[in-house]
Amino acid sequence: MAVLKDLNVSQIVLGIETSCDETAVACVHSDRTILAQTIHSQLDEHAAFGGVVPEIAARAHLQRLRPLLEKTLADAAIRPEGLSAIAATTGPGLIGGVIVGATMAKALAFAWDKPFIAVNHLEGHALSARLSDDVAFPYLLLLVSGGHCQLLAVAGVGDYRVYGTTLDDALGEAFDKTARVMGLGYPGGPAVERLALGGDSTRFALPRPLSGRAGCDFSFAGLKTAVRQAVERLPAGAADDQDAADLCASFQAACGDILAERCGHAMERFAHEFGTCERLVVAGGVAANQALRGRLRDTAEAFGADLIAPPPALCTDNAAMIAWAGLERFQAGQRDSLDVSPRPRWPLDGADMRLVTPV
Ligand code: KG4
Ligand code: ZN
Repeated sequence: MAVLKDLNVSQIVLGIETSCDETAVACVHSDRTILAQTIHSQLDEHAAFGGVVPEIAARAHLQRLRPLLEKTLADAAIRPEGLSAIAATTGPGLIGGVIVGATMAKALAFAWDKPFIAVNHLEGHALSARLSDDVAFPYLLLLVSGGHCQLLAVAGVGDYRVYGTTLDDALGEAFDKTARVMGLGYPGGPAVERLALGGDSTRFALPRPLSGRAGCDFSFAGLKTAVRQAVERLPAGAADDQDAADLCASFQAACGDILAERCGHAMERFAHEFGTCERLVVAGGVAANQALRGRLRDTAEAFGADLIAPPPALCTDNAAMIAWAGLERFQAGQRDSLDVSPRPRWPLDGADMRLVTPV
């Protein structure tokens, strides 16, 4: 059990994450200690369907959230009066789940008379490297998850400038769809990475969409289609272990090339706008992939920059990053009204990023 902190000088935020298929709760201290965190991944609930079913996810969040909350507060040895604020993912995401988490957070904030902080899930990912590595602003961020693929300059809390985004699929989605056509189950990323370890990345000539084009946007649809066509051409489909490993390795290598090229463009732009580019931060579920991390590290180093990647458990969806983003907003003097509506879409750089009411 964690030691009870001096509550007079420190700040502790409770964070709730329910935007996809993870129900998660965490208590994070302003000294960057994760006092406690609990997580329930709904893999079993969705496995039979090959992807996340929104209604099943929302129901599972409803069933799991309260026990996780009680356990997190007990593990952290925190009573409600010791909390500075309650933060919850309020979008973007599957709206049923977002409503469950945000409503719980508002109810607790009301009952315990604490400030409520509405956190953008993407902001949670964007600031996670400040929790794990104390990274200073500004930095260049590659955000790669199941629903998003973006390059952005993170200039401060709430100050995000999108350099590029995907024109079609997110990178995690491309991993998941590749896994699906190969019969590898959901989520696909970890399975593809595991198989790729024993594969020949040069065997299949797969496309690198947008290669040679200026800018920082991404496209993965053509790559995904090429993988499907390659599977269809194989005599045994993806049933032969070596064929499957070679295809996964070739796919992952194509993804690495695409990321390396687009990040190279983004580092140039960042250096032009901010004078220098010393850090490339990678976050989001796909950042758990060690092969891609290695590729990004080489890309950053070739530019004279460091690659900063939070530990894998902070890259995939979790509540510590939501509590931390809430804490950063709280420290910036921002609070939200209990009238704020959960939202399925919420761009990180839109004017409506300023949902928040300064006090
Ligand atoms: O950030 P995240 O947990 O949830 C979203 O907000 O989307 O990201 C989940 C995505 C899934 O598409 C999953 O397949 C992918 O991250 N992912 C990976 C790996 N681990 C998770 N992709 C590639 N390699 C991995 N090791
Ligand atoms: Zn996420």
